[in-house]
Amino acid sequence: MLKEFGREIWIADGPDVSVFGFHYPTRMAVMRLSSGDLFIWSPIQLSESFRAVVDALGRVRHIVAPNSLHHLFLPEWKRAYPEASLYAPPGLREKRGDIDFDADLGNASSPDWADDIDQVLMQGNRITTEVVFFHIKSGTVLFTDLIQQIPANRLSGWRAVVARLDLMMGPEPSVPRKFRLAFTNRSGARDSLKRIFAWPAEKVLMAHGTPVEEDARAFLRRAFGWLSK
Ligand SMILES: [Fe+2]
Repeated sequence: MLKEFGREIWIADGPDVSVFGFHYPTRMAVMRLSSGDLFIWSPIQLSESFRAVVDALGRVRHIVAPNSLHHLFLPEWKRAYPEASLYAPPGLREKRGDIDFDADLGNASSPDWADDIDQVLMQGNRITTEVVFFHIKSGTVLFTDLIQQIPANRLSGWRAVVARLDLMMGPEPSVPRKFRLAFTNRSGARDSLKRIFAWPAEKVLMAHGTPVEEDARAFLRRAFGWLSK
């Protein structure tokens, strides 16, 4: 269930979640920090057997929701790991007042993971301010929803039409049209992109879609080419 994706990073694909009848595949990542502690990104549903696999890697210390849309499984992870800290991206505290977050995610890494993971707030979007991470040891950039791809066989009928119009079913992962339209502060977004493009990226992970494992820097420039103009 947990698959090695690179040096000190693992991914797990969870059950689909349904949003308005659209079934999305879900994915989380686990990164092991130099301290040996685990950084959990966008957690999926937790089961006893999955928990045992995670625990074998190290101590769960940080549980991170990367944007305000990915929050479904945070309470169960916090219940399972009460000693771990739970981090809120911009906007999520307001949306999930029932969750007791320990800290907020900003435009710079916490000293707890700065040696291993860099982060940037992707500014300028009205839907969500996503926190984009860069895992240094594996050269992996982690996007959540700003880049995605739904497998061609996953949807049919009108939902496939909608997804295609939203640019979510292209030959490679891309920025869905609804997010493109929501980038109303483009210069803010470009400032964030400058930092992302400077990372020595080798791979790109996203919560929904096939990871990109070749020419990651060229892929990122293609994915945001429409915003650079
Ligand atoms: Fe998502």
